[in-house]
Amino acid sequence: MKNIVDQADHAALVKGSHDDRAAQDFAFTLRNHVTGELMPANRTVFDRRAATAYARQAGKAPATPAEVRRAMSADSWYKFYLSARRTSQELIWSSVIPAVERGAAAARVKAAGGSLNLDPDLVPPRYISAIDIHCMPGGYCADRGPGDEAAGAVYDRGVYLYMSGLMGPMNDGVGQLAARWLKARLPDFAPASILDVGCGVGHATLAYHGVYPDAALHGLDCGAALLRYGHRRAESLGVSVHFAQGDAEQAPYPDASFDLVTSHIVLHETSTRALPAILKDNFRLLKPGGVMLHIDQPRFDDSDPYATFLQENETWYNNEPFWRQYRRIDLAEVAQIAGFAAADIQLDVLTAAVVQQSQNNQRVSAMSETAKKRGFSILLARKPA
Ligand SMILES: C[S@@+](CC[C@H](N)C(=O)[O-])C[C@H]1O[C@@H](n2cnc3c(N)ncnc32)[C@H](O)[C@@H]1O
Repeated sequence: MKNIVDQADHAALVKGSHDDRAAQDFAFTLRNHVTGELMPANRTVFDRRAATAYARQAGKAPATPAEVRRAMSADSWYKFYLSARRTSQELIWSSVIPAVERGAAAARVKAAGGSLNLDPDLVPPRYISAIDIHCMPGGYCADRGPGDEAAGAVYDRGVYLYMSGLMGPMNDGVGQLAARWLKARLPDFAPASILDVGCGVGHATLAYHGVYPDAALHGLDCGAALLRYGHRRAESLGVSVHFAQGDAEQAPYPDASFDLVTSHIVLHETSTRALPAILKDNFRLLKPGGVMLHIDQPRFDDSDPYATFLQENETWYNNEPFWRQYRRIDLAEVAQIAGFAAADIQLDVLTAAVVQQSQNNQRVSAMSETAKKRGFSILLARKPA
């Protein structure tokens, strides 16, 4: 494996046999090769070949993301790159699934005091159930009934490989960033109750325990198997989290239940209809003086059509239907419509330099132009006291 630390073991994690690990290492290394070696070469192909060929035909240089896409789509290198990229993405998941399917013996875990509250009647939002987001087979809401944790096990191991281990051994890098940023930005804010919406298996949720150890932690997601796994994972790690199944557009909690409502890399996967509804419900859930914090992908830098074209590949080829729209939404405006006052809303970007602090990847400097645009964006808003 390319990075220095492997994913940290815990009682719920399924890494599989020696052969499973070998397949995972191959998928991981191939993906790193595709993103670290093949992806940057697209720029050379565009500058030296595709842009010229396009200009010859169209009578002008490609100037918009759509024109860059048309120019590149005619080039055989780009087609090869896309094929390798999609294959490596699918291999990540298929290297993880056999071990999960064989079913590891469920290790007993000590009780940390958390809970799991599933809603068998929940109909997951169609924007999640209709497509396997970033090609994870079965998607977030696959559930084979009582006791099934497969989607959680696949997500935990698969995301570690997918993100090249850059989220750290606990897959919690985004949660750590958000919680520490919040503590630095609002040093006097001490939330007693925290809700992480779209918590998945709780990667980010648990990060808040380190920063706010006295807070009651809650995680909400619509995937039952994610939550079963997340519950066992949290208990095995000795962190008390109350997980519940529900839709973040109408979260199953009374008004004014939480001091902090947060989400991590969730909003870019929600539909343009659902996102405003989620922020509106977040506002309802906050106590007076409470804080909403969302961390996700940055906005597009529309001044660079090539960079935007490259980013939009997520929508075109990686089953991320809302990636393009999300990066153009004015989050401050949506937060105002949700009920927050303009003066109580802040937007910030955590730069790639911060995000990549744990990265052991010699391509960083070569990719610096792209990397500069790759930080996380933060939406922070406070309800009046
Ligand atoms: C990319 S994952 C992020 C998971 C987690 N926040 C993390 O940092 O690992 C997005 C999660 O949001 C959940 N999600 C999306 N829309 C949701 C909604 N309306 N209600 C509840 N969960 C939702 C998905 O089921 C999925 O688990």
